Amino acid sequence: MTEVIDGNAVAADIRESLTESIETLESEGVTPGLATVLMSDDPASETYVSMKQRDCEEVGIDGIHVEIDSDAPAEELYETIDDLNADPAVHGILVQMPLPDHVDERRVLRSVDPVKDVDGFHPENVGRLVAGDDRYRPCTPHGVQKLLEAYDIETEGANAVIVGRSNIVGKPLANLLLQKADDGNATVTVCHSRTEDLAEKTRAADILVAAAGRPEFIGGEMVGEGATVVDVGINRVDADTEKGYELVGDVDYDSVEATAGAITPVPGGVGPMTRAMLLYNTVKAAGLQTDVDVELP
Ligand code: GUN
Repeated sequence: MTEVIDGNAVAADIRESLTESIETLESEGVTPGLATVLMSDDPASETYVSMKQRDCEEVGIDGIHVEIDSDAPAEELYETIDDLNADPAVHGILVQMPLPDHVDERRVLRSVDPVKDVDGFHPENVGRLVAGDDRYRPCTPHGVQKLLEAYDIETEGANAVIVGRSNIVGKPLANLLLQKADDGNATVTVCHSRTEDLAEKTRAADILVAAAGRPEFIGGEMVGEGATVVDVGINRVDADTEKGYELVGDVDYDSVEATAGAITPVPGGVGPMTRAMLLYNTVKAAGLQTDVDVELP
């Protein structure tokens, strides 16, 4: 039987543990604060940011939301980040990506104070992660690790194949699974749009992570018997539904389910974990900035 990995349940457990960490902070007079910055008209980005704010409210994190017109001068965003960096009530800053073309994304990533960089995208945090001295693990890769751990899926010695080489998922996850650590020690292959004989490589995976951003790209013929399949994709495709679209992953679930040993659904797999790990990083950030010892799940 294929095991369906329940990201909602694992994320709920993590949120519950975080509520206790937040109580510890509160008892020391600290309320963790997360600022989200949206400079986009993309409906998906708007939805993600509002879900992140709702999560904050649920666990007792102060959510501060800043919206900037997508056609405003880039300076407005840079100044907003400077203000949030200087605000002691803000422990974490998340600038929702992607940004409009006229904004220098590299400048944005570099201008968030690395101690408040709960996305883990600042070059200092990227470097620390690669060196095995991570401060904030990027939320989606960390969420994938937590899902594997929750389901006792061993990474040590496993062939982990990641399809997708983005800075947000593929590259950091490859580095994390490679680390000499209980939740690492995998043999990692990163595949991408120029990879030759892709199916041959994906079929050899014990753990296959689909993070290509292409709807239903991974079919049953690309998955080895008994593999764990982790679907990071969230694609909106036109459909005859009330909203006019439906969400599908990067995995063709129906064709893969029979072969996989375990599989994450979309929705309800990696998505809720990404959101939970943002709360985790925010609680960690509040602890680091106030010298309060917080236990993290
Ligand atoms: N856009 C898509 N995923 C992410 C993420 O993890 N963080 C930010 N800031 N933007 C995103």
